Amino acid sequence: MRMCYQFEFSPQDWDAIKNYPYAGLDFLIDDNQNIVFLEANAVPGGISVMENVCKLILENAPGLRKFMPHTEFVKLFTDAALTYYRIIKGGTPKLVLVTTPYKGDPVLMPERLSIVEEFKRRGVQAVICHRERYTVQDNKILLRAGSRFLCPDLIIRRNTIFPKNVSQPVINKSEVGLITGSKYRTYRIVSDFLSRQKEVALKIPETYFAKSVRKAITISEEILSRGKEVVVKPNKGERGKDIIFIRSASDAETKLKRAFHSKRITLVVQERIQTLPFCREGRQYVFDIRTYAYLGQFVGAHIRRSSVPIGSSSIEDYGVSNISHGGTYVPLLSTSDGPCVIKWRETAKRLYLFKHIIVDNYAFSLPHHMWKMLKRATEFVVRAIGYALNGFLNYAKI
Ligand SMILES: Nc1ncnc2c1ncn2[C@@H]1O[C@H](COP(=O)(O)OP(=O)(O)OP(=O)(O)O)[C@@H](O)[C@H]1O
Ligand SMILES: [Mg+2]
Repeated sequence: MRMCYQFEFSPQDWDAIKNYPYAGLDFLIDDNQNIVFLEANAVPGGISVMENVCKLILENAPGLRKFMPHTEFVKLFTDAALTYYRIIKGGTPKLVLVTTPYKGDPVLMPERLSIVEEFKRRGVQAVICHRERYTVQDNKILLRAGSRFLCPDLIIRRNTIFPKNVSQPVINKSEVGLITGSKYRTYRIVSDFLSRQKEVALKIPETYFAKSVRKAITISEEILSRGKEVVVKPNKGERGKDIIFIRSASDAETKLKRAFHSKRITLVVQERIQTLPFCREGRQYVFDIRTYAYLGQFVGAHIRRSSVPIGSSSIEDYGVSNISHGGTYVPLLSTSDGPCVIKWRETAKRLYLFKHIIVDNYAFSLPHHMWKMLKRATEFVVRAIGYALNGFLNYAKI
């Protein structure tokens, strides 16, 4: 029988961690090899993909096993969920609900199925349901089963729209979105926390809030006048959509008006981070890093690189690395040297079950000290968001 993984966190941090038990955070690495925080996600997807890529690496290049601290991310997630339940309620849940959007992207379905399978393997009943199959009564989520209602003990939320103030344990509860749903609010919270705990090696890009395109233009011009380039994006992210790069004052007016004038959304104006390039077969690409933390503990990370080399088309094409924007998935290894790339198979590969995801045949390797920095940065941001949420929730009770 497999032992449950022991997650380590200090008891006083539980107050924060319990609010954000499953974190997916995005970082950049700048050209001085600093870790730069980009954003936090309330319903991160990707652990099943990461597990499948690890399997592929083990089949193709088993010698790389020692550079992958964890490989079974879904099993580990289930351990984290059961530990979360045990701490909050005691014992083991009898019924777990894994939610799915009503008419959502089927992309994350294999991940939901693998989570359900893993619960079943532990003898815990688990079901996948969309919004029409459950209802809320007295702050409790109830599942419709014919003429009866079942009350799940634990909820794994795998869709964005979900009720707040639910009394069962939820991973992650909807309230996390109060912070992660606004890039600007997330920045404020993380930079406030950083100003109080300076020992963490983490950079935060200079970031401003703009209610209108006019305001975004003025702020962009001010940042440009200090010799920095600018990125303007929706305050509520849309998976790589509408990320506009401003490199000159004339860009600011034309590009921002074209992109946003007809949209009633708020924007963030941010310094553009000059990132470390991903060098591959004589070409360079931008990339970002997605890290995952379960119960406040960093468990793994991967890279998403743009599929378009730097300089080969418009910066809005090559400067954005989201998978939904055509980005390529790149495994991330923790090695004794680097940063560098390591070829681990002959060709890139489309992933079985996740056909839209192309896995690069090159992995990116971070030296141990940078891996440690990434781990510390991830665990730091989880606490920053978790503590801030405590403040929000306590304030709401007054
Ligand atoms: N300040 C920046 N400097 C350099 N590149 C950036 C910057 N901001 C964003 N990018 C690029 O654009 C991509 C998308 O940005 P970001 O993650 O902030 O928005 P999003 O993905 O649309 O939001 P969400 O993930 O919430 O849907 C990043 O992964 C990165 O490649
Ligand atoms: Mg993003």
